[in-house]
Amino acid sequence: MTTSEADAPQFDVDVDFLTGQPYPLWAQARGECPVFQTHSTMGFTDRPTFVVTRFADVERVLRDTEHISSSINAEHIGQYMGELILAMDGQEHRSYRGLVAHAFRASQLEKWDDALVRPTIERLLDGIAPLGKADLAQAITSKYPVQVICGIVGVPLEDAAQFHQWSELINGGPMHPEEGMAASRAMRDYLAPIVEDRRVNPTGDLISDLVHAEIDGQKLTDEKIYGFLRLLLPAGAETTFRVMGNALVALLTHPDVMQRVIADRSLMPAVIEETLRWETSVTQVSRCATEDLEVGGCPIPKGAAVSVITGSANRDTERFDHADEFDIDRPTANHMAFGTGQHQCLGMHLARLELRVGLDSILSRLPNLRLDPDQPPPEIMGLAFRGPESIPVLFDPS
Ligand code: HEM
Repeated sequence: MTTSEADAPQFDVDVDFLTGQPYPLWAQARGECPVFQTHSTMGFTDRPTFVVTRFADVERVLRDTEHISSSINAEHIGQYMGELILAMDGQEHRSYRGLVAHAFRASQLEKWDDALVRPTIERLLDGIAPLGKADLAQAITSKYPVQVICGIVGVPLEDAAQFHQWSELINGGPMHPEEGMAASRAMRDYLAPIVEDRRVNPTGDLISDLVHAEIDGQKLTDEKIYGFLRLLLPAGAETTFRVMGNALVALLTHPDVMQRVIADRSLMPAVIEETLRWETSVTQVSRCATEDLEVGGCPIPKGAAVSVITGSANRDTERFDHADEFDIDRPTANHMAFGTGQHQCLGMHLARLELRVGLDSILSRLPNLRLDPDQPPPEIMGLAFRGPESIPVLFDPS
């Protein structure tokens, strides 16, 4: 099959990267041309780029390892992170994932619940509970998952802010290459003595796990260890921090739901899954076509970039009734917030644990929690990454 660019429906994505609201555009695309070509690539690739918006097509692309590759992820962010699990395919990916997956199993995470996750959120809440008012994004959600990841990785808590800064600079590498490379080197220099120490003195943290992990006599190379550690902070902290903000906005703007959850904490998993469906923090993942193929009736030529809109799939009315509404009583149906197929989020059990413990502690420690009527209401925004900049609230001091 040969395909010219002229065959593909065109649809321009004109949504601000940081502050935009893409859902109306995605709804229109799902109805009119669910797979379309775009020129808005944010400068990340010179390849022709196709956007996939419907649930069924998103699922198909993410599960198709025969015609679709993840290697495109090495072209932008991989340059700054190093050897990247997100950019691997096939056997290389299976072996690597096998080596790092151990630490992220639900059973392994139990040890972090009481030892790290709850103390971290409680300590942050100690700082605001007496005040009676706070910005939950600045004071809590932007700090909590980073501090948890630092604890799991095994770097000192006092370096969490430095880590956060490096990971933002690494993430921004495609836009600001010099700063991105400098942060990438600085993080490696910082981690090197810790990695060497854990080879000799394992402590049970993630770095110890990574340096000693072995399958069939095979261990991770240094480049793969540093590549994984450079990915973990942005992959683990930036994502969960934003989803937690989205969950708080959902509860604060649906006070009836918040009252039900305060009275009955068994509803918390439904709140978390519905938030992940309704407003996930990572709305898209990248792939490229290794063969000419057709998705949702649209021809995609070999070599093209494929932007897979998981956020749009989660609002597809073919899959979810009244999909734009936040409804914790909807029948359970798998959402796409963590992707699917071989690259499905490795940290999803950790994310769910952090969200459950974090939201539970906030509702317990901040009585009579409500939006601050004297501040602008929080707004979930952004194209590829979505979350609120601020969440101004009032509560009874304690
Ligand atoms: C709510 C929070 C999170 C969301 C929405 C999220 C979303 C995603 C998505 C959509 C993917 C698939 C990427 C692809 O198919 O190309 C992914 C992969 C991944 N995530 Fe998460 N993630 C979250 C939390 C975490 C956490 C807490 C960690 C670890 C600490 C983590 C680590 C990873 C890793 C290592 C991968 C790559 C897996 C692979 O390539 O095999 N994520 N995540």
